[in-house]
Amino acid sequence: MFESVQPAPPDAILGLSEAFRADPNPQKINLTVGVYQTPAGKTPVLDVVREAERRLLDANEGKSYLPIPGSPLYATCVQELLFGVGHEANASSRAVTAHTPGGTGALRVAGDFLAQNFPGKTVWLSKPTWPNHPAVFAAAGVAAKTYPYFDAATGGLDFDALKRAIATIPAGDVCLLHGCCHNPTGVDPSPGQWQQLVGLIRDRGILPLVDFAYQGFADGIDEDAAPVRLFCQPGEELIVCSSFSKNFGLYRERVGAMTVVTADGTTADAVASQIKVTIRTNYSNPPAHGGAIVATVLGDNTLRARWVEEVDAMRTRLHDARELLVAKLREHGVPGDYAFLARQRGMFSFSGLSPEHVDTLREKYAIYIVRSGRINVAGISEDNVDRLCAAIKEVVDG
Ligand code: LMR
Repeated sequence: MFESVQPAPPDAILGLSEAFRADPNPQKINLTVGVYQTPAGKTPVLDVVREAERRLLDANEGKSYLPIPGSPLYATCVQELLFGVGHEANASSRAVTAHTPGGTGALRVAGDFLAQNFPGKTVWLSKPTWPNHPAVFAAAGVAAKTYPYFDAATGGLDFDALKRAIATIPAGDVCLLHGCCHNPTGVDPSPGQWQQLVGLIRDRGILPLVDFAYQGFADGIDEDAAPVRLFCQPGEELIVCSSFSKNFGLYRERVGAMTVVTADGTTADAVASQIKVTIRTNYSNPPAHGGAIVATVLGDNTLRARWVEEVDAMRTRLHDARELLVAKLREHGVPGDYAFLARQRGMFSFSGLSPEHVDTLREKYAIYIVRSGRINVAGISEDNVDRLCAAIKEVVDG
């Protein structure tokens, strides 16, 4: 039977990580998967995570199953991080949070929930977007369409085209927006543009779904939550898919959350019951360890403050890497103005390199970049930036 199975292409992002690991070149450079690295190329375990793990080991709370949506304490921590402590959505019990295996798990639970309860609805994705977005929604059976987003000429947002497209999305469809640090472009709307978008989406009766995987990596934990909080006005509905892979460095622990905000508490109970069915028939209940770490840190004022400092340090490092890249591209005489790279935020930038450039960089220089031209700036350091920019110059010059 299995002889008829056709090989699938490698994953656009994680497939490159595998290829990078297998490359014996000692000078190889990894600018692919969105994983934070120090200037020394390490992906550290945060100090607060180590401390939380020590406390959890001492507390030894056992290994029995968690409830289907995860621990209620974790849900409260997530909601406070998204909406702020004391927010009306938390107090009125109209927000339902399920602990999911990572942000991808959150998106899949959201997709399944939408497919099962609102068949025929379309989810609208920015063009470009994270390649797994269309794949996850296709797997869930939710149709997807795109709206314009990126202006290649300026390396910024094509806000007029974005607004025009949103004005054509049918009421009741779902619009997925990246809460901050847009993946793959690094281009976010300004606060004023968010105000307009939120108004447009609300007036048209579109359901916002915010993919919020990089909270803290653009301007700060609370600052980055501003669009989510703009959407979350009394009586307004939204879905937020969040992740602690990046801002807690808990990648392999698979710790994320899907939060559905309903108009009132009674609706929330029905929604919560459907989400439980979705989860029970998928992975039954979430893995405990990562969520327990997050709840331990966020539930302790001292640890929380130390975590904010660690996130601030990661954000500063990413910003510095951008500045370094722009300066070195200029120094190496790479044609074009790359100042836009320093204006983009988070881990990713759309470099403007073509798929052919990317292939040559990988084959000839062992420099790994996603084929769309997306680079993870966390892979850039004082040690490798000259080699990187010299290679880019040679490739671009042909
Ligand atoms: C990325 O875009 O590199 C990250 O979100 C990791 C992933 O799962 O693709």
